[in-house]
Amino acid sequence: MADQKKILCVGLVCLDIISVVEEYPEEDTDTRCVSQRWQRGGNASNSCTVLSLLGAPCAFMGSLAAGPVADFVLEDFQKFGIDVSLVSEHAQCVSPASVVISNIRTGSRTILHMNSFIMADFLQRAIDVSAVAWQVKGQTPSACCVVCPSSGSRTVLLYDTDLPDVTAQDFSRVDLAQFKWIHWEGRNTGEQVKMIQQVEKFNAQLPDHQRIGISVEIEKTREPLYELFPYGDVVFVSKDVARHFGFDSPEAALRGLYPRVKKGAVLICAWAEKGADALGPDGLLLHSDAFPPEMLVDTLGAGDTFNAGVLHTLSNGGSVQDALAFGCRIAGRKCGFHGYDGIR
Ligand code: ADP
Ligand code: FRU
Repeated sequence: MADQKKILCVGLVCLDIISVVEEYPEEDTDTRCVSQRWQRGGNASNSCTVLSLLGAPCAFMGSLAAGPVADFVLEDFQKFGIDVSLVSEHAQCVSPASVVISNIRTGSRTILHMNSFIMADFLQRAIDVSAVAWQVKGQTPSACCVVCPSSGSRTVLLYDTDLPDVTAQDFSRVDLAQFKWIHWEGRNTGEQVKMIQQVEKFNAQLPDHQRIGISVEIEKTREPLYELFPYGDVVFVSKDVARHFGFDSPEAALRGLYPRVKKGAVLICAWAEKGADALGPDGLLLHSDAFPPEMLVDTLGAGDTFNAGVLHTLSNGGSVQDALAFGCRIAGRKCGFHGYDGIR
């Protein structure tokens, strides 16, 4: 049945080490932060978190590997006398994870424990990780995130350079029939374009109502990512990219960038406290105001939350106007607490 089909998000998963500060620190100073926590991060991974909190079946596709962070996690398990076989048991609940375990038994211990930390979070949220590509070389991306409630800022320093991304060949092994929507966070665009073409080919044999929806996110200001504009039914472009192109409002960005998208596509631009706008083939500009929380607490992942809200609405057959409003509503709510768990 169509509505049991999943939403697949392809992109980054990383470890976020989040420091909450009273005031954003001056360079070369040494101050205390209010709190610090680890959190699974990455745009596609965060959108999966939100989708699963919204009750939408979803899957994540991306790369993971062992690294120094893994040693820390293992040491920490041991320091606290925590039996890591429990984590394996968790993993064995879901068949894709047992593949991971059997790989790991022939490999290094580190891989098991690092992956298990992130796996456990995916599994707890029932996110399908069968499409994760397990890398044996490279380092799982990791970010230092400074969250400053007094200004509403979130500053991210991401190390994400040496881990191979999933390829079109990896993607060709995915059973597309299980998905109603596939979302790509722009990364290795050459490969991602080939993945999208596979979905277009799959869609071509199906009646309209059974076709997989395709969306892409162009968030970072990296030239190769702009290659994705003509590939989504829905294209998310960030305010950073909009500004990079010289636009100072969502309206201006949508009008200016719309000629880059394919015929019939919807272009969406979220703009923090200004809410979000969309432009479709009819040329009508749609808008939703933001829904500011009573108190601004944590804006990290607001955009990923907004995207999840939009995907959730559109993949259930909702209108673009409803999708904008729902995306802004849950993203605004998310800004009022740390992390994502309060979204439900
Ligand atoms: P990001 O920078 O995380 O990609 P954006 O700043 O574009 O995300 O915001 C995405 C959405 O989150 C906005 O459309 C808005 O609905 C909500 N949002 C973000 N910041 C705020 C804020 N300060 N107040 C209210 N809503 C916000
Ligand atoms: C939030 C986020 C974080 C991650 C960073 C990567 O949108 O996905 O979880 O550290 O962005 O750019």
